[in-house]
Amino acid sequence: MLPSCLCSLRRLGAGGPQTPPPQCLQPGGRGLLVGGVATRRNHAPWAGPAPRLFSGSSKSRLGLASGLECDLATNLVGQPLVRQQVMKGVKEFLQNPSPAKPLVMSFHGSTGTGKTYVSSMLVRHLFQGGLRSPYVHHFSPIVHFPHAEHIEQYKENLKRWIQGNLTSCGRSAFLFDEMDKMHPGLIDVIMPFLGPSWVVYGTNYRKAIFIFISNAGGEQINEMTLDLWRAHRDREEISLQDAESAISKAVFENPQSGFWKSGIINEHLIDFVVPFLPLKHHHVKQCVVNELVQQGLEVRQGMVQEVADSIPYFPEEEKIFSSTGCKTVASRISFFF
Ligand SMILES: Nc1ncnc2c1ncn2[C@@H]1O[C@H](COP(=O)(O)OP(=O)(O)OP(=O)(O)O)[C@@H](O)[C@H]1O
Ligand SMILES: [Mg+2]
Repeated sequence: MLPSCLCSLRRLGAGGPQTPPPQCLQPGGRGLLVGGVATRRNHAPWAGPAPRLFSGSSKSRLGLASGLECDLATNLVGQPLVRQQVMKGVKEFLQNPSPAKPLVMSFHGSTGTGKTYVSSMLVRHLFQGGLRSPYVHHFSPIVHFPHAEHIEQYKENLKRWIQGNLTSCGRSAFLFDEMDKMHPGLIDVIMPFLGPSWVVYGTNYRKAIFIFISNAGGEQINEMTLDLWRAHRDREEISLQDAESAISKAVFENPQSGFWKSGIINEHLIDFVVPFLPLKHHHVKQCVVNELVQQGLEVRQGMVQEVADSIPYFPEEEKIFSSTGCKTVASRISFFF
């Protein structure tokens, strides 16, 4: 049994009262009520087992990072830049017993390139129970913020939810999936939690992790990768700096990105912009092999090739990159097996 949560305000010595749970938390109840839909949580977030990442020293926390590193190296296909960026962020953050600000990462790329996959892997290594941990909060706009006319209520609820959970446990993780479907302006309500201050609303929040996930910027990444291919250069030679500025510009200017004219971009509150590159045919084949192994099925090269060939590729003429990444691999296998 892990020790109880070590991340409380007392431990951090940040002062401030342990405020009672705000209204958006339903003690023993049904979770966050936004858009008339309750989150999957069925018990109060402060009542669950301690997140792994709170136990022990920075050395043992780095052990968790090694597990993540190994998992990424073994199972994530064709995304060395993602591995590099995510591990840099996570290691630096876990090593530091007193981070100056929360870790804020933003994942960008086209469909099926591994964004949700990596975010699940990350929380699985850092939090007991992974996505089901009471300290991991996963938001999907379609589920949690479906109605544009309720945006003011969502803002209030979201702010209270984050504040309440960080009061309960500073080492919480907040995942915002499908950011491109988020109503413009909604996400800026969490800005005060992302910056390098000591406390906000009486809550210490510097040990939290925020991950934004989005397709926005994917076109720009694909375009840059195609340019490299046309110049006979490796797709992984993409410059992180160039990718970051292209993505930031794209999401800031796109009303459908969730970050439209967002202060989060303007104030440079994102520590790591993580570009997911489009996957090539041989990457898709690797995904097929991984999936077969995971399902305990025999790996037959002919069948691996057939599944990979059945997926659409772009550009139309050259067919270099998978249009759906590895997203449909699992469902296609049953047709070919
Ligand atoms: N780079 C990758 N390496 C290994 N497997 C991958 C990779 N990308 C995708 N997959 C496989 O495809 C599935 C779907 O990927 P995932 O859900 O992460 O895509 P996504 O980038 O989040 O797409 P979307 O933008 O549509 O949400 C994963 O569960 C995983 O099995
Ligand atoms: Mg996804």
